[in-house]
Amino acid sequence: MKFDLTVNGRKRTVEAPAEMPLLWVLRDELGLVGTKFGCGIGMCGACTVHLGGKAVRSCQTPVSEVGKGAVVTIEQVGASAVGAKLQKAWTELDVPQCGYCQAGQLMSASALLAQKPKPAREEIAEAMNGNICRCGTYDRIFRAIELAAG
Ligand code: FES
Repeated sequence: MKFDLTVNGRKRTVEAPAEMPLLWVLRDELGLVGTKFGCGIGMCGACTVHLGGKAVRSCQTPVSEVGKGAVVTIEQVGASAVGAKLQKAWTELDVPQCGYCQAGQLMSASALLAQKPKPAREEIAEAMNGNICRCGTYDRIFRAIELAAG
């Protein structure tokens, strides 16, 4: 089937089975490989992207459910003021260790700050709850979000 998507501000038409997860459309059809595959069952957050401004697990989002919602991936996160501030804070605090989960972390963090510019620690913890980091960089992630929130 053909799907007309808006990805990172561009109209893209892809041909894919309706049930194909957005994750594979982004990576294999559109070459946007910044979005990572971790668990494939919605448990790790590595595949997080924005759909209509909300953080979603792209491994659990069939392309047929994307509809007219704007998709934003890690490749475009720096285009928003919030995303750019987060990227700066991430660099300043040297957040990543192996780095594999960090695209998903940044996408969840930027969705949070777009909705709540000054979140409390507990709100950060709640929003970032589904993003797992096997290197345990959580403390730096939290501090980077607080730094970006100013
Ligand atoms: Fe989607 Fe783990 S790969 S949540």
